Amino acid sequence: MKILSVFVLLLLTKPSDAKNTKGCGTKADVMFVLDSSGSVGSSNWQIMLKFVQNVINIFTIGKDDVQVGVDIYSGSPSSQIKLNSYHSKTQLMNAVKGISYVGGGTATHLGIQHMTNTSFSSSYGSRSGVPKIGIIMTDGKSNSKVETLSAAKDSKSEGILLFSIGIGSSTDSAELRGIANDPDSDFYFTGSDTCQLIYSKEDIDLEDQMNDDDEDKNDTID
Ligand SMILES: *[C@@H]1O[C@H](CO)[C@@H](O)[C@H](O)[C@H]1NC(C)=O
Ligand SMILES: *[C@@H]1O[C@H](CO)[C@@H](O)[C@H](O)[C@H]1NC(C)=O
Repeated sequence: MKILSVFVLLLLTKPSDAKNTKGCGTKADVMFVLDSSGSVGSSNWQIMLKFVQNVINIFTIGKDDVQVGVDIYSGSPSSQIKLNSYHSKTQLMNAVKGISYVGGGTATHLGIQHMTNTSFSSSYGSRSGVPKIGIIMTDGKSNSKVETLSAAKDSKSEGILLFSIGIGSSTDSAELRGIANDPDSDFYFTGSDTCQLIYSKEDIDLEDQMNDDDEDKNDTID
């Protein structure tokens, strides 16, 4: 499944080139913003972390290549990994694996604002002239849809390309579509789309995990 690399590459290349281009050798600053609220649940939390690791795996990570950071939010946002925290893929992967699930409220707007205001600042490693990509993973039920959509709009007007990915069984697709750049078919994913996205080059079958949480989890990323 190459859908994930295509979806990222849509941002990094001219649309006409996107489908023929490989994921390596691109330059981008990619921030994940993960919903760590109570409604997500710990098993979907693990799916999010695996997704992040799979995306990291397809990129060349480095200060002159792709940089990846991770913010999480529940009632308030926090930086877990800055864009310039790790330039080694192994260290980055290990840091992602260690991010704890929090629980609590769903202040998605604060998560998005924190990404826009802080995580994409130069002191956090954001580079000028490099595509800024924000990947918001949430169950799409924020405490305030109005504020969430407003924060997403502000973020997009700063030139950040926003993807939204719905996680869990009760996503609010209107909110997720509102967060994402248009067209939704390129920037908004949920349900079985998400399962396809998650594949990438590694053989981690998250669709199986979603269907059977009790199955012995043998997968390793690296
Ligand atoms: C982000 O910046 C905006 C505009 O300056 C401000 O209104 C908002 O409170 C800030 N939010 C966060 C979480 O930093
Ligand atoms: C887990 O890995 C072990 C050793 O590689 C293997 O024998 C076992 O079948 C695997 N379990 C599952 C559920 O894949």
